Amino acid sequence: MSDIKKYVEENRERFINELVELLKIPSISADPAYKNDVLKTADAVMKRLQEAGCDTVEICDTPGNPIVFGEKIVDKNLPTVLVYGHYDVQPPDPLDLWTSPPFNPVIKETKIHPEGAIFARGACDDKGQMYMHVKALEYMIKNDALPCNVKFMIEGEEEIGSVSLGWFLERNREKLSNDVILISDTGMIAKEVPSITTGLRGLSYVEVEVTGPNRDLHSGLYGGAVANPINVLAKMIAALHDENNHITIPGFYDKVEEASDIERSKMAEAPFSLENYKEALDIEAVYGEKGYSTNERNSIRPTLDVNGIWGGYIGEGAKTVIASKAYAKISMRLVPDQDWQEITALFKKHFENLAPKGVKVNVKPHHGGQAYVTPIDTLEYQAANDAYEESFGKAPIPQRSGGSIPIVSLFEKELKSKTILMGFGLDSDAIHSPNEHFGIWNYLKGIETIPLFYKHFTKLKKQE
Ligand code: BES
Ligand code: MN
Ligand code: MN
Repeated sequence: MSDIKKYVEENRERFINELVELLKIPSISADPAYKNDVLKTADAVMKRLQEAGCDTVEICDTPGNPIVFGEKIVDKNLPTVLVYGHYDVQPPDPLDLWTSPPFNPVIKETKIHPEGAIFARGACDDKGQMYMHVKALEYMIKNDALPCNVKFMIEGEEEIGSVSLGWFLERNREKLSNDVILISDTGMIAKEVPSITTGLRGLSYVEVEVTGPNRDLHSGLYGGAVANPINVLAKMIAALHDENNHITIPGFYDKVEEASDIERSKMAEAPFSLENYKEALDIEAVYGEKGYSTNERNSIRPTLDVNGIWGGYIGEGAKTVIASKAYAKISMRLVPDQDWQEITALFKKHFENLAPKGVKVNVKPHHGGQAYVTPIDTLEYQAANDAYEESFGKAPIPQRSGGSIPIVSLFEKELKSKTILMGFGLDSDAIHSPNEHFGIWNYLKGIETIPLFYKHFTKLKKQE
Protein backbone atom coordinates (compact mmCIF):
# COMPACT_ATOMS: atom_id res chain seq x y z
CA MET A 1 0.00 0.00 0.00
CA SER A 2 1.31 3.47 -0.84
CA ASP A 3 2.26 5.86 1.96
CA ILE A 4 -0.58 8.25 1.22
CA LYS A 5 -3.15 5.43 1.13
CA LYS A 6 -1.88 4.24 4.50
CA TYR A 7 -1.99 7.76 5.94
CA VAL A 8 -5.55 8.27 4.72
CA GLU A 9 -6.65 4.97 6.20
CA GLU A 10 -5.01 5.65 9.56
CA ASN A 11 -6.53 9.10 9.82
CA ARG A 12 -9.88 8.33 8.25
CA GLU A 13 -12.05 9.03 11.30
CA ARG A 14 -10.27 12.27 12.13
CA PHE A 15 -10.51 13.48 8.50
CA ILE A 16 -14.25 12.86 8.54
CA ASN A 17 -14.80 14.44 11.96
CA GLU A 18 -12.88 17.57 11.05
CA LEU A 19 -14.99 18.06 7.94
CA VAL A 20 -18.16 17.46 9.93
CA GLU A 21 -17.17 20.28 12.32
CA LEU A 22 -16.63 22.65 9.41
CA LEU A 23 -20.01 21.73 7.93
CA LYS A 24 -21.82 22.69 11.12
CA ILE A 25 -21.22 26.41 10.51
CA PRO A 26 -23.91 27.83 8.19
CA SER A 27 -21.71 30.02 5.97
CA ILE A 28 -24.50 31.13 3.66
CA SER A 29 -23.11 34.01 1.61
CA ALA A 30 -26.42 34.96 -0.02
CA ASP A 31 -28.08 35.93 3.27
CA PRO A 32 -26.61 38.82 5.31
CA ALA A 33 -28.13 37.29 8.44
CA TYR A 34 -25.33 34.68 8.33
CA LYS A 35 -22.45 37.15 8.11
CA ASN A 36 -21.13 36.08 11.51
CA ASP A 37 -21.09 32.43 10.52
CA VAL A 38 -19.30 33.35 7.31
CA LEU A 39 -16.59 35.06 9.38
CA LYS A 40 -16.47 32.14 11.80
CA THR A 41 -15.91 29.76 8.91
CA ALA A 42 -13.08 31.87 7.50
CA ASP A 43 -11.51 31.72 10.92
CA ALA A 44 -11.89 27.96 11.13
CA VAL A 45 -10.33 27.51 7.68
CA MET A 46 -7.41 29.69 8.76
CA LYS A 47 -6.79 27.53 11.82
CA ARG A 48 -6.98 24.31 9.78
CA LEU A 49 -4.40 25.63 7.33
CA GLN A 50 -2.11 26.56 10.22
CA GLU A 51 -2.49 23.10 11.73
CA ALA A 52 -1.78 21.48 8.37
CA GLY A 53 1.60 23.19 8.38
CA CYS A 54 1.40 26.41 6.35
CA ASP A 55 4.16 28.93 7.15
CA THR A 56 1.80 31.88 7.06
CA VAL A 57 -1.95 32.07 7.01
CA GLU A 58 -3.97 35.26 7.04
CA ILE A 59 -7.51 36.44 6.71
CA CYS A 60 -7.59 39.06 3.98
CA ASP A 61 -10.36 41.59 4.18
CA THR A 62 -12.17 42.58 0.99
CA PRO A 63 -15.16 44.86 0.36
CA GLY A 64 -17.20 41.67 0.88
CA ASN A 65 -16.43 38.41 2.70
CA PRO A 66 -12.81 37.73 3.67
CA ILE A 67 -10.45 35.52 1.69
CA VAL A 68 -8.28 33.05 3.56
CA PHE A 69 -4.74 33.00 2.21
CA GLY A 70 -2.05 30.57 3.29
CA GLU A 71 1.28 29.39 1.96
CA LYS A 72 4.14 27.01 2.44
CA ILE A 73 7.22 28.01 0.52
CA VAL A 74 9.75 25.19 0.32
CA ASP A 75 12.18 26.80 -2.11
CA LYS A 76 11.64 29.87 -4.26
CA ASN A 77 13.16 28.08 -7.25
CA LEU A 78 10.56 25.32 -7.18
CA PRO A 79 7.19 25.59 -8.90
CA THR A 80 4.15 26.86 -6.99
CA VAL A 81 0.67 25.34 -6.93
CA LEU A 82 -2.17 27.74 -6.06
CA VAL A 83 -5.19 25.98 -4.58
CA TYR A 84 -8.51 27.79 -4.92
CA GLY A 85 -11.74 26.83 -3.19
CA HIS A 86 -14.70 28.40 -1.40
CA TYR A 87 -15.95 28.13 2.17
CA ASP A 88 -19.35 29.74 1.52
CA VAL A 89 -22.41 27.62 0.75
CA GLN A 90 -25.78 27.94 -0.96
CA PRO A 91 -28.90 28.59 1.13
CA PRO A 92 -30.37 25.23 2.20
CA ASP A 93 -33.98 25.98 1.21
CA PRO A 94 -36.44 24.34 0.96
CA LEU A 95 -35.73 23.07 4.46
CA ASP A 96 -38.63 20.65 4.76
CA LEU A 97 -37.22 18.50 1.95
CA TRP A 98 -34.08 17.64 3.93
CA THR A 99 -34.13 14.23 5.60
CA SER A 100 -31.69 15.55 8.23
CA PRO A 101 -30.97 19.20 9.12
CA PRO A 102 -28.57 20.83 6.60
CA PHE A 103 -26.11 22.04 9.25
CA ASN A 104 -26.22 18.97 11.42
CA PRO A 105 -24.09 16.61 9.32
CA VAL A 106 -24.89 12.91 9.44
CA ILE A 107 -23.38 9.95 7.63
CA LYS A 108 -25.80 7.79 5.69
CA GLU A 109 -25.37 5.00 3.18
CA THR A 110 -26.77 5.40 -0.32
CA LYS A 111 -26.88 3.07 -3.31
CA ILE A 112 -23.96 4.88 -4.92
CA HIS A 113 -22.14 5.40 -1.62
CA PRO A 114 -22.24 2.10 0.30
CA GLU A 115 -19.26 3.36 2.36
CA GLY A 116 -21.47 6.22 3.53
CA ALA A 117 -21.83 9.85 2.54
CA ILE A 118 -21.83 12.99 4.66
CA PHE A 119 -25.17 14.77 4.32
CA ALA A 120 -24.94 18.53 4.85
CA ARG A 121 -25.09 21.78 2.91
CA GLY A 122 -21.61 22.35 1.50
CA ALA A 123 -20.53 18.71 1.98
CA CYS A 124 -19.51 18.49 -1.67
CA ASP A 125 -19.82 22.14 -2.79
CA ASP A 126 -17.30 23.09 -1.68
CA LYS A 127 -16.23 22.55 1.94
CA GLY A 128 -15.63 18.83 1.46
CA GLN A 129 -13.70 19.23 -1.75
CA MET A 130 -11.77 22.23 -0.46
CA TYR A 131 -10.85 20.36 2.72
CA MET A 132 -9.39 17.45 0.73
CA HIS A 133 -6.62 19.87 -0.22
CA VAL A 134 -5.97 20.86 3.38
CA LYS A 135 -5.63 17.21 4.39
CA ALA A 136 -3.47 16.41 1.34
CA LEU A 137 -1.20 19.27 2.41
CA GLU A 138 -1.09 17.91 5.96
CA TYR A 139 0.05 14.55 4.61
CA MET A 140 2.72 16.06 2.38
CA ILE A 141 4.17 18.28 5.09
CA LYS A 142 4.10 15.65 7.85
CA ASN A 143 5.71 13.04 5.62
CA ASP A 144 8.28 15.19 3.91
CA ALA A 145 6.46 14.67 0.64
CA LEU A 146 5.74 18.24 -0.44
CA PRO A 147 7.80 18.56 -3.63
CA CYS A 148 7.04 22.23 -4.40
CA ASN A 149 5.55 25.44 -3.00
CA VAL A 150 1.87 25.77 -2.29
CA LYS A 151 -0.50 28.66 -1.79
CA PHE A 152 -4.14 28.53 -0.73
CA MET A 153 -6.82 31.07 -1.59
CA ILE A 154 -10.18 30.13 -0.11
CA GLU A 155 -12.93 32.64 -0.69
CA GLY A 156 -16.35 33.24 0.83
CA GLU A 157 -18.37 34.67 -2.05
CA GLU A 158 -18.27 32.04 -4.78
CA GLU A 159 -21.96 31.26 -4.50
CA ILE A 160 -22.85 34.91 -5.01
CA GLY A 161 -20.62 35.47 -8.01
CA SER A 162 -17.15 35.99 -6.46
CA VAL A 163 -17.90 39.70 -6.29
CA SER A 164 -14.70 40.72 -4.45
CA LEU A 165 -12.25 38.35 -6.08
CA GLY A 166 -11.44 40.64 -9.01
CA TRP A 167 -10.66 43.38 -6.50
CA PHE A 168 -8.40 41.01 -4.56
CA LEU A 169 -6.58 39.70 -7.66
CA GLU A 170 -5.77 43.21 -8.85
CA ARG A 171 -4.17 44.10 -5.52
CA ASN A 172 -2.34 40.85 -4.88
CA ARG A 173 -0.86 39.74 -8.17
CA GLU A 174 2.59 39.08 -6.69
CA LYS A 175 1.26 37.30 -3.63
CA LEU A 176 -0.82 35.01 -5.80
CA SER A 177 1.86 34.31 -8.44
CA ASN A 178 1.93 30.62 -9.28
CA ASP A 179 2.67 28.01 -11.94
CA VAL A 180 -0.70 26.27 -11.92
CA ILE A 181 -4.06 26.72 -10.24
CA LEU A 182 -5.66 23.64 -8.73
CA ILE A 183 -9.39 23.52 -7.97
CA SER A 184 -11.70 20.82 -6.68
CA ASP A 185 -15.15 22.32 -7.13
CA THR A 186 -16.54 20.21 -9.98
CA GLY A 187 -17.48 16.57 -10.46
CA MET A 188 -16.38 13.32 -12.03
CA ILE A 189 -18.35 10.95 -14.28
CA ALA A 190 -18.56 8.05 -11.82
CA LYS A 191 -16.50 6.40 -9.08
CA GLU A 192 -15.05 3.92 -11.53
CA VAL A 193 -14.83 6.50 -14.33
CA PRO A 194 -12.37 9.21 -13.30
CA SER A 195 -12.59 12.42 -15.28
CA ILE A 196 -11.05 15.86 -15.36
CA THR A 197 -13.18 18.90 -16.10
CA THR A 198 -11.85 20.74 -19.15
CA GLY A 199 -14.58 23.32 -19.57
CA LEU A 200 -17.05 25.41 -17.59
CA ARG A 201 -19.95 27.45 -18.87
CA GLY A 202 -20.18 31.19 -18.48
CA LEU A 203 -23.13 32.87 -16.86
CA SER A 204 -25.38 35.88 -17.15
CA TYR A 205 -27.84 36.28 -14.29
CA VAL A 206 -30.65 38.83 -14.43
CA GLU A 207 -33.78 39.73 -12.53
CA VAL A 208 -36.83 41.10 -14.33
CA GLU A 209 -39.73 43.11 -13.01
CA VAL A 210 -42.99 43.66 -14.88
CA THR A 211 -45.24 46.42 -13.59
CA GLY A 212 -48.86 46.85 -14.63
CA PRO A 213 -51.39 49.00 -12.77
CA ASN A 214 -50.18 51.18 -9.89
CA ARG A 215 -51.83 48.94 -7.25
CA ASP A 216 -53.18 45.44 -6.82
CA LEU A 217 -56.69 45.29 -8.31
CA HIS A 218 -59.92 43.31 -7.86
CA SER A 219 -59.66 40.61 -10.54
CA GLY A 220 -63.41 40.83 -11.21
CA LEU A 221 -63.76 44.56 -11.48
CA TYR A 222 -60.63 45.03 -13.61
CA GLY A 223 -59.97 41.51 -14.95
CA GLY A 224 -59.86 41.39 -18.74
CA ALA A 225 -59.48 45.13 -19.12
CA VAL A 226 -55.89 45.73 -18.02
CA ALA A 227 -52.67 43.86 -18.59
CA ASN A 228 -52.06 41.36 -15.78
CA PRO A 229 -48.27 41.49 -15.10
CA ILE A 230 -48.14 37.79 -14.19
CA ASN A 231 -49.93 36.71 -17.39
CA VAL A 232 -47.69 39.03 -19.40
CA LEU A 233 -44.49 37.84 -17.71
CA ALA A 234 -45.42 34.21 -18.37
CA LYS A 235 -46.02 35.01 -22.05
CA MET A 236 -42.76 36.93 -22.35
CA ILE A 237 -40.80 34.09 -20.77
CA ALA A 238 -42.46 31.56 -23.05
CA ALA A 239 -41.41 33.65 -26.05
CA LEU A 240 -37.73 33.30 -25.12
CA HIS A 241 -37.59 29.80 -26.68
CA ASP A 242 -38.96 28.67 -30.04
CA GLU A 243 -40.53 25.30 -30.91
CA ASN A 244 -37.07 23.71 -31.25
CA ASN A 245 -36.02 25.06 -27.87
CA HIS A 246 -33.63 27.50 -29.45
CA ILE A 247 -33.28 30.79 -27.63
CA THR A 248 -34.95 33.61 -29.56
CA ILE A 249 -32.86 36.58 -28.39
CA PRO A 250 -31.45 38.17 -31.58
CA GLY A 251 -27.67 37.75 -31.73
CA PHE A 252 -27.60 35.24 -28.84
CA TYR A 253 -25.86 32.52 -30.88
CA ASP A 254 -23.66 34.80 -33.00
CA LYS A 255 -20.43 34.05 -31.15
CA VAL A 256 -21.20 30.50 -30.05
CA GLU A 257 -18.31 28.27 -30.99
CA GLU A 258 -19.73 25.19 -32.71
CA ALA A 259 -18.03 22.01 -31.57
CA SER A 260 -16.35 20.11 -34.39
CA ASP A 261 -17.69 16.74 -35.48
CA ILE A 262 -14.56 15.15 -34.03
CA GLU A 263 -15.15 16.74 -30.64
CA ARG A 264 -18.80 15.76 -30.69
CA SER A 265 -18.06 12.16 -31.51
CA LYS A 266 -15.37 12.06 -28.79
CA MET A 267 -17.93 13.40 -26.31
CA ALA A 268 -20.38 10.72 -27.33
CA GLU A 269 -17.84 8.06 -26.33
CA ALA A 270 -17.96 9.05 -22.65
CA PRO A 271 -19.99 6.50 -20.71
CA PHE A 272 -23.57 7.71 -20.27
CA SER A 273 -26.91 5.97 -19.84
CA LEU A 274 -29.96 7.99 -20.80
CA GLU A 275 -32.14 5.41 -19.03
CA ASN A 276 -30.28 5.84 -15.73
CA TYR A 277 -30.33 9.59 -16.16
CA LYS A 278 -34.10 9.65 -16.54
CA GLU A 279 -34.61 7.18 -13.74
CA ALA A 280 -32.46 9.18 -11.32
CA LEU A 281 -34.60 12.26 -11.95
CA ASP A 282 -37.90 10.41 -12.19
CA ILE A 283 -38.70 11.88 -15.61
CA GLU A 284 -40.19 10.14 -18.61
CA ALA A 285 -38.27 12.07 -21.21
CA VAL A 286 -35.43 14.53 -21.49
CA TYR A 287 -36.08 17.94 -22.98
CA GLY A 288 -33.91 20.46 -24.75
CA GLU A 289 -32.49 22.04 -27.84
CA LYS A 290 -33.23 20.15 -31.03
CA GLY A 291 -30.24 18.58 -32.73
CA TYR A 292 -28.13 18.00 -29.62
CA SER A 293 -27.65 15.12 -27.20
CA THR A 294 -28.24 15.42 -23.45
CA ASN A 295 -24.52 15.69 -22.73
CA GLU A 296 -24.14 18.36 -25.39
CA ARG A 297 -27.15 20.28 -24.12
CA ASN A 298 -25.70 20.50 -20.65
CA SER A 299 -22.13 21.37 -21.54
CA ILE A 300 -21.33 22.82 -24.97
CA ARG A 301 -24.65 24.59 -25.63
CA PRO A 302 -25.91 27.82 -24.08
CA THR A 303 -29.18 27.85 -22.13
CA LEU A 304 -31.76 30.17 -20.61
CA ASP A 305 -33.66 29.13 -17.48
CA VAL A 306 -36.05 30.77 -15.07
CA ASN A 307 -34.76 30.16 -11.54
CA GLY A 308 -37.65 31.69 -9.69
CA ILE A 309 -40.89 33.48 -10.48
CA TRP A 310 -43.22 35.28 -8.13
CA GLY A 311 -45.95 37.84 -7.71
CA GLY A 312 -49.57 38.08 -6.63
CA TYR A 313 -51.19 36.06 -3.90
CA ILE A 314 -49.54 32.82 -2.82
CA GLY A 315 -50.95 32.46 0.71
CA GLU A 316 -53.58 30.05 1.99
CA GLY A 317 -56.85 29.74 0.08
CA ALA A 318 -57.80 32.07 -2.75
CA LYS A 319 -57.64 35.79 -3.21
CA THR A 320 -59.12 37.35 -6.34
CA VAL A 321 -56.49 39.83 -7.32
CA ILE A 322 -54.54 41.22 -10.24
CA ALA A 323 -51.09 41.99 -8.92
CA SER A 324 -49.39 45.24 -9.72
CA LYS A 325 -46.03 43.51 -10.21
CA ALA A 326 -44.51 40.22 -11.29
CA TYR A 327 -40.89 39.11 -11.06
CA ALA A 328 -38.52 36.44 -12.30
CA LYS A 329 -34.88 35.51 -11.88
CA ILE A 330 -33.29 34.20 -15.05
CA SER A 331 -29.92 32.56 -15.68
CA MET A 332 -28.24 32.09 -19.01
CA ARG A 333 -25.41 29.57 -19.19
CA LEU A 334 -22.92 30.59 -21.83
CA VAL A 335 -20.27 28.87 -23.91
CA PRO A 336 -17.10 30.08 -25.65
CA ASP A 337 -16.95 32.74 -27.17
CA GLN A 338 -20.09 34.42 -25.87
CA ASP A 339 -19.33 37.48 -23.77
CA TRP A 340 -21.51 37.63 -20.67
CA GLN A 341 -21.89 41.40 -20.63
CA GLU A 342 -22.82 41.46 -24.29
CA ILE A 343 -25.40 38.70 -23.72
CA THR A 344 -26.83 40.57 -20.74
CA ALA A 345 -27.28 43.66 -22.95
CA LEU A 346 -28.89 41.58 -25.73
CA PHE A 347 -31.27 40.03 -23.23
CA LYS A 348 -32.23 43.39 -21.78
CA LYS A 349 -32.98 44.91 -25.16
CA HIS A 350 -34.98 41.91 -26.34
CA PHE A 351 -36.94 41.52 -23.14
CA GLU A 352 -37.90 45.17 -23.12
CA ASN A 353 -39.02 44.83 -26.75
CA LEU A 354 -41.20 41.82 -25.89
CA ALA A 355 -43.31 43.83 -23.45
CA PRO A 356 -46.78 44.80 -24.68
CA LYS A 357 -48.14 48.30 -24.12
CA GLY A 358 -49.72 48.56 -20.70
CA VAL A 359 -46.77 47.22 -18.69
CA LYS A 360 -43.35 48.57 -17.80
CA VAL A 361 -40.35 46.27 -17.76
CA ASN A 362 -37.21 46.63 -15.69
CA VAL A 363 -34.26 44.31 -16.28
CA LYS A 364 -31.71 44.28 -13.49
CA PRO A 365 -28.40 42.56 -14.31
CA HIS A 366 -26.87 40.58 -11.44
CA HIS A 367 -23.51 38.86 -11.81
CA GLY A 368 -21.91 36.88 -14.57
CA GLY A 369 -18.73 35.42 -15.91
CA GLN A 370 -17.04 34.02 -18.99
CA ALA A 371 -16.94 30.40 -20.06
CA TYR A 372 -13.71 28.45 -19.89
CA VAL A 373 -12.17 25.66 -21.94
CA THR A 374 -8.72 24.28 -21.53
CA PRO A 375 -6.68 22.24 -24.00
CA ILE A 376 -5.49 18.82 -22.88
CA ASP A 377 -2.08 18.85 -24.56
CA THR A 378 -0.47 20.87 -21.77
CA LEU A 379 2.04 19.94 -19.09
CA GLU A 380 -0.55 20.77 -16.44
CA TYR A 381 -3.12 18.39 -17.87
CA GLN A 382 -0.49 15.69 -18.32
CA ALA A 383 0.41 15.96 -14.63
CA ALA A 384 -3.23 15.62 -13.63
CA ASN A 385 -3.66 12.72 -16.02
CA ASP A 386 -0.67 10.93 -14.48
CA ALA A 387 -1.96 11.53 -10.96
CA TYR A 388 -5.33 9.94 -11.78
CA GLU A 389 -3.66 7.04 -13.58
CA GLU A 390 -1.62 6.33 -10.50
CA SER A 391 -4.48 6.57 -8.04
CA PHE A 392 -7.36 5.09 -10.08
CA GLY A 393 -5.33 2.70 -12.23
CA LYS A 394 -6.79 4.20 -15.39
CA ALA A 395 -6.62 7.39 -17.40
CA PRO A 396 -9.21 10.08 -16.68
CA ILE A 397 -11.67 11.20 -19.36
CA PRO A 398 -11.61 14.91 -20.21
CA GLN A 399 -15.12 16.31 -19.85
CA ARG A 400 -16.71 19.72 -20.25
CA SER A 401 -19.07 20.63 -17.43
CA GLY A 402 -22.24 22.67 -17.54
CA GLY A 403 -21.62 24.51 -14.26
CA SER A 404 -19.82 27.80 -13.82
CA ILE A 405 -16.88 29.01 -11.78
CA PRO A 406 -16.58 32.46 -13.33
CA ILE A 407 -13.31 33.18 -11.61
CA VAL A 408 -11.44 30.56 -13.63
CA SER A 409 -11.33 32.58 -16.84
CA LEU A 410 -10.36 35.65 -14.82
CA PHE A 411 -7.47 33.70 -13.24
CA GLU A 412 -6.14 32.82 -16.66
CA LYS A 413 -6.34 36.43 -17.79
CA GLU A 414 -4.94 38.02 -14.63
CA LEU A 415 -2.50 35.44 -13.33
CA LYS A 416 -1.56 33.93 -16.71
CA SER A 417 -1.66 30.39 -15.47
CA LYS A 418 -3.64 27.30 -16.39
CA THR A 419 -6.28 25.86 -14.11
CA ILE A 420 -6.71 22.16 -13.43
CA LEU A 421 -10.22 21.20 -12.32
CA MET A 422 -9.92 18.00 -10.30
CA GLY A 423 -13.47 17.37 -9.19
CA PHE A 424 -14.45 14.42 -7.03
CA GLY A 425 -18.19 15.04 -6.67
CA LEU A 426 -20.93 13.07 -8.47
CA ASP A 427 -23.99 14.53 -10.20
CA SER A 428 -26.12 12.61 -7.72
CA ASP A 429 -24.52 14.43 -4.77
CA ALA A 430 -27.35 16.99 -4.96
CA ILE A 431 -25.26 20.16 -4.75
CA HIS A 432 -27.50 23.25 -4.36
CA SER A 433 -30.42 20.86 -3.66
CA PRO A 434 -31.90 19.47 -0.46
CA ASN A 435 -29.89 16.52 0.93
CA GLU A 436 -26.54 17.52 -0.53
CA HIS A 437 -23.96 14.90 0.32
CA PHE A 438 -20.38 13.87 -0.40
CA GLY A 439 -19.28 10.25 -0.55
CA ILE A 440 -16.66 9.28 2.00
CA TRP A 441 -14.97 7.22 -0.69
CA ASN A 442 -14.81 10.29 -2.94
CA TYR A 443 -13.50 12.46 -0.11
CA LEU A 444 -10.71 10.06 0.76
CA LYS A 445 -9.91 9.32 -2.89
CA GLY A 446 -9.47 13.04 -3.44
CA ILE A 447 -7.05 13.32 -0.53
CA GLU A 448 -5.15 10.37 -2.00
CA THR A 449 -4.98 11.76 -5.55
CA ILE A 450 -4.02 15.38 -4.84
CA PRO A 451 -0.43 14.75 -3.59
CA LEU A 452 0.16 12.72 -6.76
CA PHE A 453 -0.64 15.81 -8.81
CA TYR A 454 2.01 17.76 -6.91
CA LYS A 455 4.49 14.97 -7.52
CA HIS A 456 3.86 14.64 -11.26
CA PHE A 457 3.57 18.35 -11.84
CA THR A 458 6.91 19.07 -10.15
CA LYS A 459 8.57 16.21 -12.01
CA LEU A 460 7.31 17.37 -15.42
CA LYS A 461 8.25 20.97 -14.64
CA LYS A 462 11.81 19.93 -13.84
CA GLN A 463 12.08 18.08 -17.15
CA GLU A 464 10.75 21.09 -19.06
N1 BES B 1 -19.05 24.25 -7.70
C1 BES B 1 -20.06 24.94 -8.43
C2 BES B 1 -19.87 24.89 -9.92
C3 BES B 1 -19.82 23.52 -10.56
C4 BES B 1 -20.42 22.41 -9.98
C5 BES B 1 -19.19 23.39 -11.76
C6 BES B 1 -20.36 21.18 -10.59
C7 BES B 1 -19.12 22.16 -12.38
C8 BES B 1 -19.71 21.05 -11.79
C9 BES B 1 -20.07 26.40 -7.96
O1 BES B 1 -20.06 26.49 -6.56
C10 BES B 1 -21.36 27.04 -8.39
O2 BES B 1 -22.38 26.65 -7.92
N2 BES B 1 -21.27 28.00 -9.29
C11 BES B 1 -22.43 28.75 -9.67
C12 BES B 1 -22.05 30.04 -10.33
C13 BES B 1 -21.92 31.21 -9.41
C14 BES B 1 -21.65 32.46 -10.18
C15 BES B 1 -23.07 31.38 -8.48
C16 BES B 1 -23.25 27.98 -10.66
O3 BES B 1 -22.71 27.22 -11.49
O4 BES B 1 -24.47 28.15 -10.61
MN1 MN C 1 -18.66 25.34 -5.73
MN1 MN D 1 -22.14 26.05 -5.86
